Amino acid sequence: MKNIKYTAKIKRYNPEKKESYWQDFEVEVEDTLTVLELLMYIKDKIDSTLTFRSFCRSAICGSCAMLINGRSGLACKIQAKDKIRNGVVKIEPLQHLPVIKDLVVDIDPAIEKLKKVKPYLEPDPKKVPDNLKSESLVSPEEFAMYDKQTDCILCMACYGQCNALEGDAKYLGPLQLTKAFRFIMDSRDGMDVEERINLVENSGIYECVQCQMCLAACPKDIKPAEDILGLRRIAKDVGKDNSATRRAKFWFQTVYETGQIDKYNLPVASLEEDGEVIKENMEKEFKERGLKEENFGPQPFDGIQDLQNFIKKVQKEVK
Ligand code: SF4
Ligand code: SF4
Ligand code: FES
Repeated sequence: MKNIKYTAKIKRYNPEKKESYWQDFEVEVEDTLTVLELLMYIKDKIDSTLTFRSFCRSAICGSCAMLINGRSGLACKIQAKDKIRNGVVKIEPLQHLPVIKDLVVDIDPAIEKLKKVKPYLEPDPKKVPDNLKSESLVSPEEFAMYDKQTDCILCMACYGQCNALEGDAKYLGPLQLTKAFRFIMDSRDGMDVEERINLVENSGIYECVQCQMCLAACPKDIKPAEDILGLRRIAKDVGKDNSATRRAKFWFQTVYETGQIDKYNLPVASLEEDGEVIKENMEKEFKERGLKEENFGPQPFDGIQDLQNFIKKVQKEVK
């Protein structure tokens, strides 16, 4: 254990003046400090007005999530010395949530979104007894399908790192979708799978860009991006017809028939009437480029049969 010197660069917010600003704190501290201990040191020794949330200091309560060098994480789990870059550790509040003061964010908007997915079991009377004398059994195999997801501590680290939320504040968010997946997989749940899918399909599962940032952010190794793919598969299995499933079907069909994606007809196939404008614009552009109408969409190429055989083989193996 030794002392090291560096700068803690902290983004602060003054709610009275509605003003945010960066403040540098020069510290000389033990090299064993977590980021949370660093913040406590600064609050104790340098500036008592510095505000942040923490409670358990053991990566359990989920209250100390923040951005450390631009990445979401729990301040109590991350070693400050591992985050020093050119003598500086940069600390900011989580993204996508309103800041209340300094590093404290208001998590209510994310909790309101969570409520939309009904994050609780609606007990199936056939599975869940209404008395305490008998048990509601879950097999180890079934529990393994959502065991990890039950570890979520609602820290919002994934939410604060989600790229889909950058452009669409209505997007539900990774932890909310993971929770939806978890209850769909639970055989004790009495709510219809289709009903659960209806709760998420228009505000989440197809907007996720699969950047995987939520996986990297999660201190509990939960994988919301994978659960979102699971939700897409379930939506397809329950036969939901929407722009995304139509798009996927058309995409597959044209690749199978021609070996190429039919970008010209794809907008109408997936968006129906709303896709007409996109198609008209493309038509205009193609004509200006001197393309003949029969070449607007793809044509099968020699050897397409080989590709089709390959696709059939893969489909067989996947089944
Ligand atoms: S994979 Fe999806 S949910 Fe996860 S951070 Fe990226 S956009 Fe958000
Ligand atoms: S999924 Fe992981 S990162 Fe997201 S809220 Fe839950 S514990 Fe935190
Ligand atoms: S203080 Fe509880 S998770 Fe960090």
